[in-house]
Amino acid sequence: MKIAVAGTGYVGLVTGVCLAEHGHLVTCVDVDEAKVALMQQGVSPIYEEGLSELMNKNRDRLTYTTDYKAAYADKDVIIIGVGTPEKKDGSANLSYVYAVAEQIAHSVTRDCVVVVKSTVPIGTNDKVEALLNAKSDPSIHIHVASNPEFLAQGTAVRDTLHASRIVIGVEEPETGELLKAMYQEFDAPILVTNRKSAEMIKYASNDFLALKISYVNEIALLCELVGADIDDVTRGMGYDSRIGNKFLQAGIGYGGSCFPKDTKALHWLANFHDYEIKTIKAAIEVNENQKLKPIKIARKYFDSLEGLTIAVLGLTFKPGTDDLREAPSLVNIPIMLDDGAHVKAWDPVGMENFKKRALGDITYCDSIESTLDGADVCFIFTEWPEIKNLDVSLFSKEMRQAIIIDGRNCYALARMEQEPVIYHSIGRRTIF
Ligand code: UGA
Repeated sequence: MKIAVAGTGYVGLVTGVCLAEHGHLVTCVDVDEAKVALMQQGVSPIYEEGLSELMNKNRDRLTYTTDYKAAYADKDVIIIGVGTPEKKDGSANLSYVYAVAEQIAHSVTRDCVVVVKSTVPIGTNDKVEALLNAKSDPSIHIHVASNPEFLAQGTAVRDTLHASRIVIGVEEPETGELLKAMYQEFDAPILVTNRKSAEMIKYASNDFLALKISYVNEIALLCELVGADIDDVTRGMGYDSRIGNKFLQAGIGYGGSCFPKDTKALHWLANFHDYEIKTIKAAIEVNENQKLKPIKIARKYFDSLEGLTIAVLGLTFKPGTDDLREAPSLVNIPIMLDDGAHVKAWDPVGMENFKKRALGDITYCDSIESTLDGADVCFIFTEWPEIKNLDVSLFSKEMRQAIIIDGRNCYALARMEQEPVIYHSIGRRTIF
């Protein structure tokens, strides 16, 4: 099939490249000329495992352009994969989606299917279709399908090629058949439903996962208060297949471009319909508190962090990505800097993006050892393998006073007990 994809972020680019991998001819469209130039040279603008390799492998089937008019003119399917960032009131900002829909309306020269892959509030697909029909040539038939994305950053290529499910929301059966054909080579069950249900599946899934994390983080807090161990507790829970053993990792809260915005968007949507979705509201509140837990632990030792040297290991919101959006590092580090601490940081891929945030005077280090050297406190914000597999004797060897605040439970308590350190983690006893 001839396919165009609007937007070359995580969702758009990975989708386009994976469709090319399965034999489709794909044109990726973006407004950012520098980004397009990079992709034309075979370079991925985002850090995502396996993506550059697939871009190069399928370069004969992939085109990158800023020329949307030519790109949308004669395609079978046009996929909208642009961002829907959070607005100040918590609702989703749909201006990019509607801007692309306008461009499509003014460019198409034949019947086609427009697929909305961006995460959009329930009812948006109907509005996109109305806009397209109002602004395009009336002789052209455009049907809009909802096809939400379930890939996670860091594993985006694998999640797309071997998706947990492909959800297609349509109002006419023939479009459902066409999209099933588009995805026939993909290794995933396909569910065809109506548009609003498809839109709801996306929010309900993401918010359920966010809920699960906030629930576990509250249980972790209780574990600390009563002397239980969250890792054993979640292991015990996970044997029950109704609960499942995934997404039970206690930590310093969920970040990223999805859970924070999608929980707020559903909360906003419920309010809009004069309803308060209490479970999601609680998940949001718990998460906001959880993110600040590391600095609250540090305050137990020091009224002020002034004059201290602080080592920060991990900046990104999760391992496997250079993305910093809603990362706990972004709320904790400014507090350290405000107090007057000397902050040294290390992250395998996130430092360049962190520098761009210009949060203050931070020393970026090229190794974990040099980050720990002379530090009074070490904060761990991301469970990168390099951090998890660290020789933990380095903490006491390199640091001035080895207080470790591990927001991701990277180390076994039994191992840390053998070290001359103070070790705080989440939902587990503190080692002194
Ligand atoms: C999430 C969903 O997992 C995807 O299914 C979805 O498609 C995507 O959002 C999206 O809507 O685009 P992502 O945000 O990339 O993917 O990453 P996750 O692996 O879900 O992690 C999100 C956050 O939750 C991270 O900060 C992570 O540290 C945290 N988390 C995750 C925990 O604190 N505990 C866990 O057990 C799992």
